[in-house]
Amino acid sequence: MAAAPGRILVAPRRAGFAAQQSAYDEAFKTRNAPPSAPCDSMNPHPGAGPSPVIFDPSLRIGLPEIDRQHSELIDELNRLIADAHGSVSSETLVDVLSSLGRELAEHFRFEESLFGRLGMHHEEVDAHVAAHEEILSQYVELNLDLMNKLRRLSRAEILSMVRQWVTGHIVSYDLRMRGLLAN
Ligand SMILES: [Fe+2]
Ligand SMILES: [Fe+2]
Repeated sequence: MAAAPGRILVAPRRAGFAAQQSAYDEAFKTRNAPPSAPCDSMNPHPGAGPSPVIFDPSLRIGLPEIDRQHSELIDELNRLIADAHGSVSSETLVDVLSSLGRELAEHFRFEESLFGRLGMHHEEVDAHVAAHEEILSQYVELNLDLMNKLRRLSRAEILSMVRQWVTGHIVSYDLRMRGLLAN
């Protein structure tokens, strides 16, 4: 089977990502500990499917436009969570995945335009931008795989990826902007 073009494009970026992440963590190890996990990890009804993510203060940065964009991305994630028992080709999944790439790309561009004004250190900027690029690469790869049926992915696996792109990234990277705003 021929390799998908997307794999060739994304592979080189992946190679340096672990190192970037490590440098990023090192640069910030003296800062506040990461916030506790967002409420989506707490499901009071095990077996009833995953709970929606609540965009509560633990996920807010304090910059209204970024918080608004994060809220919209979480809305998309929650649409997938509500449709968790649908098929990998459900209308909701196709709809969310078809618009999520553009929404993520626009949001990342906006966020990156603020990094300089926040006085972010260049190592921090490089690692944060690399994390954005990694998410967009994964998004392209997922869509190519689904389109070409190259990987058998379950709904749970797809949901887990989208959760990482949205809440995982907010918790691991974006919330660190909150500390810069306080300075
Ligand atoms: Fe970000
Ligand atoms: Fe963000």
